[in-house]
Amino acid sequence: MNKIKVNLNRRISASYEILIGRNILDRGGMILQRNNWADRYFLAADETVASLHGERTAEILRSAGLSVEILTLPAGESAKKMDTVLSLVGGLLRLGADRASGIIALGGGVTGDVAGFAASIFMRGIPYVQIPTTLVAQVDSSIGGKTGVNLDEGKNLVGAFHQPKAVIIDMEFLRTLPEREYRNGLAETVKYGIIDDPGLFEVLESEAEKILERDMDRLSEVVPRSCSIKKGIVEIDERELGIRKILNFGHTIGHALERESDGAIPHGEAVAAGMIAAAHISEKMGYLPAADRLRIEGLIRRVGLYRPIPPSLATEGIVSRLRYDKKKKGGEVSFVLLKKIGIPFSNGAVEGEVIAEAVEALRKA
Ligand SMILES: NC(=O)c1ccc[n+]([C@@H]2O[C@H](COP(=O)([O-])OP(=O)(O)OC[C@H]3O[C@@H](n4cnc5c(N)ncnc54)[C@H](O)[C@@H]3O)[C@@H](O)[C@H]2O)c1
Ligand SMILES: [Zn+2]
Repeated sequence: MNKIKVNLNRRISASYEILIGRNILDRGGMILQRNNWADRYFLAADETVASLHGERTAEILRSAGLSVEILTLPAGESAKKMDTVLSLVGGLLRLGADRASGIIALGGGVTGDVAGFAASIFMRGIPYVQIPTTLVAQVDSSIGGKTGVNLDEGKNLVGAFHQPKAVIIDMEFLRTLPEREYRNGLAETVKYGIIDDPGLFEVLESEAEKILERDMDRLSEVVPRSCSIKKGIVEIDERELGIRKILNFGHTIGHALERESDGAIPHGEAVAAGMIAAAHISEKMGYLPAADRLRIEGLIRRVGLYRPIPPSLATEGIVSRLRYDKKKKGGEVSFVLLKKIGIPFSNGAVEGEVIAEAVEALRKA
């Protein structure tokens, strides 16, 4: 089992531990029991995760001496909204939860974001613990304390920073994850390699097949390494004021593709395309050697995340979406670009023409 400590500025929020391993729920339960963060726990899971893993997880935690009751949420991105938060809060009240209660978010990023947000506002804030079950949640959303929901006007527009008391990552959960969800999660690990860890990038290159097969020995290297990178960046910049922006590598064009396709292109594939485009822009602007761009593109193809963007999505439409990017500042599209694999930087001004050319390049199979 790996342990990673997230050290945060004490004036803002407390530090916490990320436990990573296989079949570690019993160890996680002991930690919750020992720390006594809450006298009753309410485990929130979406319908899919609840039926696959809810009862078993609750039972393991109960055998560590915890009081655990299950609350079920609807599954999917469409459930990431205020209504779901309010019905979760309603469920907590019905079961008699109070300020001494805690929430356990068991599931993917949607459950973590919704349940974490509910924990941040229930009785002005109660503790919560993350038990992520998707690859996206294990290497990304469960770490960093960002919680929240979507509005009709856009994604993640309401939320709070609320750090979990602990994150318990049991990689065995990944075995039941649908293939497309799993691959989508790999986009974030590829991103970590590109922005911070050329060694991880090399492991992904040389072990791509094994990783696609969910070989647990390989995942035991890739998952903790990814978590360390996210935690390192979050520690320096808990509130996303500066360096945390490099986590948006590939996400500027990625988000535009997601929105322009109305969600038909899933997040991981959209970010993968965005990373190739960002590499292309970096090369065009004279920062990134062509060889690095080719390696990035090659790895994305090997892990099955490369899809040419469909002709039905016009380049103009995609580029115009960028203007509405909330990461944009003062009228220019701000991009995270690369000097080489492992060396990202934030560039405030990329011309529309260069962006359009990079998008066009994504049409080739
Ligand atoms: N808070 C953050 O910092 C942060 C970071 C990245 C992403 N996010 C958010 O996370 C969300 C995406 O997360 P996600 O991809 O995990 O989505 P998700 O939570 O919707 O999970 C994807 C699907 O997989 C199912 N599932 C989950 N675990 C499973 C398992 N072990 N076996 C079988 N099925 C399983 C779920 O029921 C769901 O249908 C987005 O809303 C995104 O905005 C948040
Ligand atoms: Zn992402």
